Amino acid sequence: MSDESRPSPSRAGTAAVIPAAGRGVRLGPGAPKALRALNGTPMLIHAVRAMAASRSVSLVVVVAPPDGAAEVKTLLDAHTLLPGGATAGSTDFLVVPGGDTRQESVRFGLDALPPGFDIVLVHDAARPLVPVDTVDAVIEAVRDGAPAVVPALPLADTVKQVEPASEPGGPEAVVATPDRSRLRAVQTPQGFDRAALVRAHETVTDDVTDDASMVEQLGLRVVTVPGHEEAFKVTRPLDLVLAEAVLARRRLNDGF
Ligand code: CTP
Ligand code: MG
Repeated sequence: MSDESRPSPSRAGTAAVIPAAGRGVRLGPGAPKALRALNGTPMLIHAVRAMAASRSVSLVVVVAPPDGAAEVKTLLDAHTLLPGGATAGSTDFLVVPGGDTRQESVRFGLDALPPGFDIVLVHDAARPLVPVDTVDAVIEAVRDGAPAVVPALPLADTVKQVEPASEPGGPEAVVATPDRSRLRAVQTPQGFDRAALVRAHETVTDDVTDDASMVEQLGLRVVTVPGHEEAFKVTRPLDLVLAEAVLARRRLNDGF
């Protein structure tokens, strides 16, 4: 591609795909995880607001539970999408039904993306509280030329590699202790050059738990930017307590 026909990275449109189709088995019985409330507002709405809060994001594609697309559309219509009552006038929304795996759900979201968006964020609905500065840092690093960008944090715990036990809860033999200083826990939104992410989803068939690892498998450069502790994933019941505490602290700091 000549320099002239290459879209200017700073002017390329940015879209966010939000996989929200999971059941939330580890959270326990109840509604699909993304539809559970945090301080009265569905987790998905918090996650959508977190993406729409970035001035760069002009389209959000929500990948809904397979039988819940209509309900999600109603939810998006019912909630103002920016905190403080403002509506997200400059952000468009699309809702598509999800698949059996996260990977499949993300692919359905990518399939629905119209042309004109050269940077794509993929953000878990289960990370409802990511600050906008983290979102913008990811976008900035993609604009600077990285095909894939992940927010990452150092680990607090030492990590052991084990030989998994044959029955749950049984003792497991430790086989290695990786050097913690070289390990990172990665979060979302992960940011991508759209073409690289689409190619990864067309090419990589292995089961993966994040999108950046698919781009890694293509041999492309994946880089980190600093993650944020508030971008944690709501996975188990205790995470709901933490998320509501973070929201309460924000409310105090915002003075209402
Ligand atoms: N996800 C999805 N489609 C699936 C599975 C997961 O869109 N078939 C989404 C979830 O909605 C979530 C994100 O991927 O926003 C991260 O997945 P995870 O935290 O594992 O959520 P769940 O799969 O819902 O939870 P669990 O694994 O406990 O069932
Ligand atoms: Mg899951």
